[in-house]
Amino acid sequence: MSAPGRRPRMLVVGGTGGLVGRHVRAEFSRDWTIRSLHRHPVPEEASGGIEWIYGDAGTVRDWAPLLDKVDLVLNLAWYRTGPDRRFAPLAEGLVRLIRTSEAVGVRRFVHVSVPDAPERLETGLPYLTRKREVDRALEASRLSYVIVRPTLLFAPRDVLLTVMMRTMARYHRFPMFGDGEYHVSPIAASDVARILRREAETPGRRNVTAGGPERWRYRDLTDRIFRALGRPPKYFRLSHRSSVRLARLLEVFGSSLLYVYEVEWLLSDMLGIPPYEGLATPLAPVTPFLESEARRRRPPPG
Ligand SMILES: NC(=O)c1ccc[n+]([C@@H]2O[C@H](COP(=O)([O-])OP(=O)(O)OC[C@H]3O[C@@H](n4cnc5c(N)ncnc54)[C@H](OP(=O)(O)O)[C@@H]3O)[C@@H](O)[C@H]2O)c1
Repeated sequence: MSAPGRRPRMLVVGGTGGLVGRHVRAEFSRDWTIRSLHRHPVPEEASGGIEWIYGDAGTVRDWAPLLDKVDLVLNLAWYRTGPDRRFAPLAEGLVRLIRTSEAVGVRRFVHVSVPDAPERLETGLPYLTRKREVDRALEASRLSYVIVRPTLLFAPRDVLLTVMMRTMARYHRFPMFGDGEYHVSPIAASDVARILRREAETPGRRNVTAGGPERWRYRDLTDRIFRALGRPPKYFRLSHRSSVRLARLLEVFGSSLLYVYEVEWLLSDMLGIPPYEGLATPLAPVTPFLESEARRRRPPPG
């Protein structure tokens, strides 16, 4: 993908300090030169020879100098929540990035997006409407691109399964949203990095979803987390409406534990998407991860 004799170079927009970014660093840094644009310092980048460009992707006016000698652009930047005034400038900056990548002849553009969501969220939630503007701009470009849309991720320090486990460990109870009959297929962040690598190196214009190896009924997964902690599953059951109310209350009090759209998305049963196929070795199941996270939480013997 690069000129003979030199390491290929990538620009990671969003950087290698976030959940996916950390695993991208592990996956690519042995044989790629990485230029990383984001806002907060990441010590592992400095020690790992990664070139950090301080910047907000929403305010970069001219991307051309950052794309000098860049073979691959990988975009990870997005926010988990916030008002439209937060998403709109970021989406505009990313569309400028796409247009400039096209103009300067970037060879491959990889963009991480999200799976389909309920219509009401797709049309009314800036988190999604603005994300789709970026997705569509890339599809309308002449770039060689892939849009990778993973379902919920797991890894140490993730913001979902480890938070659920911490809550269960602390309170010995957990809210059950609705009947728990909907599905999820969690995928390891390290597997998403492997998918990004494979997709970066596979030519073509593609839009792929990426689920993990197992499709869980949600309440079986929460039972399994309790079991990993050595505790009997105990729930306080909430109707669909009360689940949304609880998430709204948490939002009002400034908590980042859970957002209303996340509860609605979960309850819509749209997150149990099929496993990604095509990696040389199998996708990691979630159970060993749960066991190792639970072990870390147990008090030392004696
Ligand atoms: N986590 C999941 O379960 C999940 C599932 C499906 C898809 N995704 C998608 O995967 C991508 C990465 O998600 P993640 O979970 O790794 O998120 P993350 O941990 O929040 O990392 C995102 C990184 O983007 C950077 N960033 C945010 N706004 C930026 C801006 N305006 N300019 C430059 N950099 C910016 C942040 O670094 P700085 O603070 O240093 O700028 C942050 O480290 C996102 O597009 C997300 O929508 C995530």
